[in-house]
Amino acid sequence: MSDSKTYAPPSEFSSRAHVKSTEEYRALYERAKTNPEAFWGDLAATELTWFRPFLKTLDWDPPSAKWFPGGKINACYNCVDRHLRTERRTKPAIIWEGEPGDSRVLTYEDLYKLINRFATILMRLKSKTGERAVIYMPMIPELAIAVLTCARMGITHSVVFGGFSSEALKTRIQDLGASLVITADGGWRRGKEVRLKDAVDKALEECPSVRTVMVYKRTGSDVNMMTGRDYWWHEHEENLDSTPALKAIAESGEVQHLDPEHPLFVLYTSGTTGKPKGILHTTAGYLLQTAITMKWVFDLREDDIFWCTADIGWVTGHSYIVYGPLTAGATVVMYEGAPDYPAYDRFWQIVEKYRVTIFYTSPTAIRALVRQGDKWPNAHDLSSLRLLGSVGEPINPAAWDWYYRVIGKERCPIVDTWWQTETGAIMIAPMPGAMPLKPGSATLPLPGTIVDIVDTNGNVLGNNQEGFLVIREPWPSMARNVWGDPKRFQEQYWSRFPNSYFTGDAARRDDDGYYWILGRIDDVMNVSGHRLSTMEIESSLVHHPAVAEAAVVAKPHEITGQAVCAFVTLKQGDWNVEALGQELRQWVGREIGPFARPEEIRFTDALPKTRSGKIMRRLLRELVTSHGVTGDITTLEDMSVIQRLASQHQSDED
Ligand code: WT7
Repeated sequence: MSDSKTYAPPSEFSSRAHVKSTEEYRALYERAKTNPEAFWGDLAATELTWFRPFLKTLDWDPPSAKWFPGGKINACYNCVDRHLRTERRTKPAIIWEGEPGDSRVLTYEDLYKLINRFATILMRLKSKTGERAVIYMPMIPELAIAVLTCARMGITHSVVFGGFSSEALKTRIQDLGASLVITADGGWRRGKEVRLKDAVDKALEECPSVRTVMVYKRTGSDVNMMTGRDYWWHEHEENLDSTPALKAIAESGEVQHLDPEHPLFVLYTSGTTGKPKGILHTTAGYLLQTAITMKWVFDLREDDIFWCTADIGWVTGHSYIVYGPLTAGATVVMYEGAPDYPAYDRFWQIVEKYRVTIFYTSPTAIRALVRQGDKWPNAHDLSSLRLLGSVGEPINPAAWDWYYRVIGKERCPIVDTWWQTETGAIMIAPMPGAMPLKPGSATLPLPGTIVDIVDTNGNVLGNNQEGFLVIREPWPSMARNVWGDPKRFQEQYWSRFPNSYFTGDAARRDDDGYYWILGRIDDVMNVSGHRLSTMEIESSLVHHPAVAEAAVVAKPHEITGQAVCAFVTLKQGDWNVEALGQELRQWVGREIGPFARPEEIRFTDALPKTRSGKIMRRLLRELVTSHGVTGDITTLEDMSVIQRLASQHQSDED
């Protein structure tokens, strides 16, 4: 990757930007570094609306952080209510486009009313502060309404991406002990219905904690409703309209005054073991950092139309469709379907239709669209765009170049944003009016993000050396815990290097101080910007009755960045390997979700192991990334295994 070519911010962009020059950036960065408490304290007081002011900025007892103790706040109030006192009352908060082409616009005032109505409905069904709700919905406005209603009531929400299987849904509901599930009959994806309620029914066979299931009617198909447990959202809306006492409650706009550390949400993410981790985020700090990055990184202005193409089921959607933009009073676009349906110009058609000014997507989406050629974007007027963003994985120079030329017409800076589910908000990214870009680099750490690159022993490395990326100082939107497993939180993130947060990523810094993220160093894969755990897929495979052992590695993939490759040994039996390969792929799809399906299954008679019996994934990784195995294999128990696998690999390629 070349570091040489740089792109200075267009002067027109800089002159109007929140942060206009490298000097301004440096001043902010230095202030945050020398006096973080004053820096974050001032921002929290000005950017957020408090019911009761906080007493101090931070109590830090690593890894336990309490930001803004003594205050009282509500995330939903900050996202919605406070804007009603301004001209934003009638401003569109959410512009929604459904896959079949239906659309809706909700102003901040509309959002306020719908949330209060839904809160009244949930209250009536006895949901309350301190409980957990799992939300399993398509990308429709009611998903955002459900999220914000939970936040308003102090119910900790956990959105499970609609692409997850009922099995994955079940384990999340159980881990949280959720009492409430909010779902829909189904959603649309590439012209087909994704039947969500069916998956909920299956999951709930083994979830005794769930008392209430609220179902939104989206597709209108037949679903099963269990009396006393399942309720139609629209029936409760109708009931509210015909019950004056309930209407009065909805109109009163009741809102919980919560502790700044009140658990706002849990999002499950793949880690290095088979079991996903429930990453816990709390209220005030999370809100502050997602909102301030809207200004710093996306340079948000009052008239922007901001579109983040992620699903709300991932952290990107939480932070940059719901909490960040709405706290900042923005107009967001929300889209239900896929980028390539009904045709490859769906994104560009939506950009044109709504005059999108800021567009934020993943390198995977860009690479998939590059492939289809320039005619798709060229058929649309993209002149409204002024800023482009990228997230989820490193963006390769060819994709960057296409994004810059064909989509941004060489006018729009590209913000390559590095962050994680655990960081809550963007950590390393350009301030687009302030610093030159280098394609492939997330550029410089934002103010308040203090990072180092270290070697295995924790020694700080200098420029141009590859090592582990660590974060040295606490930040407001940092994850507070792994739900129900503080030990795992401590061990996973805070033990490897004392008092530092371990990101799991390798990185390098160049002589200009720019950061180049090299990817995960643990057993976590990045497929289409989605995090997958090798262990999770392996344990799914070995559940299958035919499978004896499985080893999963990532192999490079032109579009999705990485793809899942599974090496499998079979139990004794007469297997039709052709059919079994297909079956195993579907099996993983059912157990985890279609996006986790292995691209390739390789059957083998043995896996390479050390003498102590550990599978040597490193060798398998080398096998699928290069053409031979290098390095030390002296600990290998049976040398012939790897030779057989290597020759098999060779003949597959020929
Ligand atoms: C991992 C976090 C939070 C965004 C969505 C993914 C990789 C993320 C970049 C980037 C290079 C990136 C890292 C990170 N990653 N953004 N701009 N450049 N790599 O969230 O599922 O928690 O995954 O995604 O490897 O650790 P996530």
